[in-house]
Amino acid sequence: MANPSLLILPGDGIGPEVMAEVRKVIDWFGEKRGLVFDVEEDLVGGAAYDVHGVPLADSTMEKAQSVDAVLLGAVGGPKYDDLPFEVKPERGLLRLRKEMDLFANLRPAVCFDALADFSSLKPEVISGLDIMIVRELTSGVYFGEPRGIFDDNEGGRVGINTQRYTTEEVRRVARVAFELARRRNNRVCSMEKANVMESGILWREEVQWVHDNEYPDVELSHMYADAGAMQLVRWPRQFDVIVTDNLFGDLLSDVAAMLTGSLGMLPSASLGAPMENGRPKALYEPVHGSAPDIAGQGKANPCACILSFAMALRYSFDEGAEADRLEKAVERVLAEGVRTPDLLQKEGATPATTAEMGDAIIRALDESLAAE
Ligand code: IPM
Ligand code: MG
Repeated sequence: MANPSLLILPGDGIGPEVMAEVRKVIDWFGEKRGLVFDVEEDLVGGAAYDVHGVPLADSTMEKAQSVDAVLLGAVGGPKYDDLPFEVKPERGLLRLRKEMDLFANLRPAVCFDALADFSSLKPEVISGLDIMIVRELTSGVYFGEPRGIFDDNEGGRVGINTQRYTTEEVRRVARVAFELARRRNNRVCSMEKANVMESGILWREEVQWVHDNEYPDVELSHMYADAGAMQLVRWPRQFDVIVTDNLFGDLLSDVAAMLTGSLGMLPSASLGAPMENGRPKALYEPVHGSAPDIAGQGKANPCACILSFAMALRYSFDEGAEADRLEKAVERVLAEGVRTPDLLQKEGATPATTAEMGDAIIRALDESLAAE
């Protein structure tokens, strides 16, 4: 059988630096675990715009459609702020999500014990936190029509975006949430604004329908998204799986991320329908952005991107045990006190560079073998 294939899109800002550490990890799994990937690299975001005049070339889109999984670093930066909307770096990412139909975005918010002090919440509220946010990623107000900026015919302008969900769009992402819940603590909380939005009423009814007809064994609750935001900060451990729409999911996942102390730790998986080989269409990326202020200085934390590769091992390649191995290696390195600057509190402590963090994770992986 052919090796599984990966398309790597480092992107902008700290993307290339953190991806260089992921490459070390990919090579390690090839050399030490016989998990050899065919890896190709290409451009996305501002980096693609600089070369092609668009944030994602058609040839890159074709490659993304044909590989087993895509790994993406980050897109965007101040250099591109004044570009026209259609060619902004973010459009490259949104095109990948839309054309690959990656409707389910999994964003785990897990608090590593070694980092419990980093949260802005008290350690007793946060320790042991393990939430999975499932965000709908290819519909809703991000893509709904009509959209645009128009003349209002009275001398002013009007900006329009449309929140729109269909039965099937809600049902398919709800199924992903229920499936995940069954393998976790069997609870799903669905969030919308059914009190003010018709699309929210539909969302609530369709999630309930999927529950009643297909997953009656899973515990389901509903919350208005604003109350959900409050509960996430008040008592986050009440949640197991949260399922929500594209825009609320964007906001709520940033809140959940920050509960854990550092955006530099959080991976994500964006999954679509199964391909011919049974693997889902998939793109893995860290939740953090391109962090242009620290780019190129060796300060970036590569953990989120490395943990995104762990999600690829789990969800694309059915290598759950190897994903566990990688996650444990990261945890161990943190517990040893190897920290990039975002994870350092004490003045005067010496931070690890991006590459040193990557190397420490490789060492911990080696040690995991020695311990077997
Ligand atoms: C995210 C980001 C993106 C989004 C941007 C970069 C388009 O904030 O993945 O959460 O809004 O979806
Ligand atoms: Mg976001």
